[in-house]
Amino acid sequence: MIIPGSAVTPKVRGDLAADFDVGRVRQDFPILGEKVHGKPLVYFDNAATSQKPQVVIDAVHRFLSTYNSNIHRGVHDLSERATEAYERGRKKVQRFINAAESREIIFVRGTTEAINLVAHSYGRKHIRAGDEIVISTMEHHSNIVPWQILCEQTGAALRVVPINDAGELQLDGYEKLLTPRTRLVSIVHVSNALGTINPVREIIRLAHDRGVPVLIDGAQAVPHLRVDVREIDCDFYAFSGHKVFGPTGIGVLYGKAELLEAMPPYQGGGDMIKTVTFERTLYNDVPYKFEAGTPHVAGVIGLGAAVDYVGGIGLEKIIAYEHELLEYATNALSAIAGIRIIGMAQEKASLISFVLDGVHAHDVGTILDHEGVAIRAGHHCTMPLMQRFGVPATARASLAFYNTKEEIDVLVQAIYKAIEMFG
Ligand SMILES: Cc1ncc(COP(=O)(O)O)c(C=O)c1O
Repeated sequence: MIIPGSAVTPKVRGDLAADFDVGRVRQDFPILGEKVHGKPLVYFDNAATSQKPQVVIDAVHRFLSTYNSNIHRGVHDLSERATEAYERGRKKVQRFINAAESREIIFVRGTTEAINLVAHSYGRKHIRAGDEIVISTMEHHSNIVPWQILCEQTGAALRVVPINDAGELQLDGYEKLLTPRTRLVSIVHVSNALGTINPVREIIRLAHDRGVPVLIDGAQAVPHLRVDVREIDCDFYAFSGHKVFGPTGIGVLYGKAELLEAMPPYQGGGDMIKTVTFERTLYNDVPYKFEAGTPHVAGVIGLGAAVDYVGGIGLEKIIAYEHELLEYATNALSAIAGIRIIGMAQEKASLISFVLDGVHAHDVGTILDHEGVAIRAGHHCTMPLMQRFGVPATARASLAFYNTKEEIDVLVQAIYKAIEMFG
């Protein structure tokens, strides 16, 4: 395992990880003091949703209890304060992913809605019968189904990049799929089922060499990597607030300004217009053109607090510490007889999917739950990927920076219990 795309030496990484005070950080997350079935909670379901630090809870609480109001249209004090906080949230997200302008940040419900927005708006405008859209074998359903719907509606076709047995995208296979018919590439940054970190800079460069725009599904990347949309030069980047320690129901679509400007609206309604008559509607400027209706104001404020919090800890320290956790967990789990880890990419985020001989993933999940350990069992919304590995489901432990090696020890003991009961 290599630290994602960085030139950080093991020594620097070790120093960064040693400088990370996990005990102190855990105090920021009230839920981590909870008990489940009488046992201390060990939360390893971070890829599904992450826990929230007190600063996020407080920011949302403060908004709802002291200046809750609708935004943009109000002339009163509360509305002005809410509007300022909402637009401040946009600027915080802009800085977090290093977008060139705040109007390139569009607030949506989550990664799923962000991808659907691009499929509807960009897709319907630019994609025709005979065109091709390139995705990969390791996509989440939310980066498959919107494109299938678009293909059904337009007569375009999906092309799927193969992966190897370690769960790494095959770049030569990818290049072969880029043809004069390719209109869009949409690839996941970090796989939610394997942990694989894809070489997005290279993927984007190869597409751009042929004039093809690229959407990156960053749902699992933003909590674990430093994402710089200008450095990777993606055209669209999608992520969800709830996976990066913010609230549910809020997410982000980043798009290059010139692309967003040229795209038609996704939904019609209030706020996305300048003027309306029964004959004709003049649409609002970007980003408001894509934010029809009352947005999730509390969600944006919470997300702003979350990205500030992550930035305050420092992503380099988070990356280094999570690397140590992943290494520790991989060694500990690999030592268990009858376990098979699905996804052994060279570049990997802190997530381990596994199957146990003779024990169904759901049974593993249930036994672990009784030990206070929350993992996820199932297909992880990646059914084609499960087929690729010939398994119906995996058990998945996904780690965050507030997890510890001691918690991994609890996981390992609980897996032995599952083997004892079912194996
Ligand atoms: C890689 C990936 N893409 C997309 C999604 C969808 O995110 P959301 O349900 O927040 O829209 C997820 C959620 O698990 C994911 O892991």
